[in-house]
Amino acid sequence: MPEVSNSEAGDGGAAGRAERAAQRRALASRYALLPLRLFLGVTFVYAALDKLSDAHYLAGAGDPASFVSQTQAAKAGGSPIAFLLGPALDAPTLFALAIAFGELAVGLGTLLGLWGRVAALGGALINLSLWLTVSWNVSPYYLGNDLGYLMAWTPLLLAGTPYLSVDGYLARRAGRDRERGLTEDHVRRRTLMDGGIAAVAIGGAGLLSGSLTRTFGRNRTAAPKQSAAPDPVAAPAPAVAAASVPVGGSAQVKDPATGDAVYIVQPKAGQYCAFSSVCTHSGCAVDAPRNGQLYCPCHGSRFDAATGAVVNGPAVKPLPRYGVTKDGDQLTLGPLQS
Ligand code: FES
Repeated sequence: MPEVSNSEAGDGGAAGRAERAAQRRALASRYALLPLRLFLGVTFVYAALDKLSDAHYLAGAGDPASFVSQTQAAKAGGSPIAFLLGPALDAPTLFALAIAFGELAVGLGTLLGLWGRVAALGGALINLSLWLTVSWNVSPYYLGNDLGYLMAWTPLLLAGTPYLSVDGYLARRAGRDRERGLTEDHVRRRTLMDGGIAAVAIGGAGLLSGSLTRTFGRNRTAAPKQSAAPDPVAAPAPAVAAASVPVGGSAQVKDPATGDAVYIVQPKAGQYCAFSSVCTHSGCAVDAPRNGQLYCPCHGSRFDAATGAVVNGPAVKPLPRYGVTKDGDQLTLGPLQS
């Protein structure tokens, strides 16, 4: 029996470790897109069901959170695809439902890996259209969610969903069929037909779940972050010089109870009011007032700088309002009023 020297045994051990490391790297590369796929799939299913269960989404133009109001606002706000929004405003219910069910189909297709590139293309087109409309005025651009989602679809668009997926199963079965000597035409037809059957089945399940969500959905509105009234004993009320609040502009102070930023604004000469900077949609910080409105960079809600009322959704509740008192050249933040 030949003897194995220590150095040979060491080389063998090192080679084994290198091979195992290479296998781990190959496995990691193979499944590298899985977390992204899961995230996008779950998010799109969630977004679709969220829309379908929200009574505001299909409400008319009087509701600032409705599809109609947001589309009108995008058109008026200089969207580069404003010319395409006319048909959507002619048949808003149809378009609103098409977007929600489109998101559902994209989400399910991505999660299950069925026609993965088609689903990724659909997701990218939805996010492209949202970026060019709802998120178009977000500044700086990187605060807009839709551009980020658009970029996130790109790897799936390029790579498809070949692993842990219906696509992967169909591809493996097609390989076996070729080995059995079936013609390429036969293999393609079988793959396409079974993919189509799976798509119809999943589409039907999505349609059913979406319709049930729409029927039994609750009239949800986001709860604004509750702010307690400032405690006049514990902390002095914040104050600023009136000269630091120009007409149409603002000065920022902090609610001493919560630490939230509050804008003291002067919408008209001599008229002072104050609003929380916490957006009532999902809690992002709204920008300082511009052109008579406070703008939320997260999803495009706009609020009237004189009243705090919603000008454009998806927020449905006004910004919480504080009292302001003027004493000489001093503006002092009062208690939370609403
Ligand atoms: Fe969504 Fe403000 S957090 S619009």
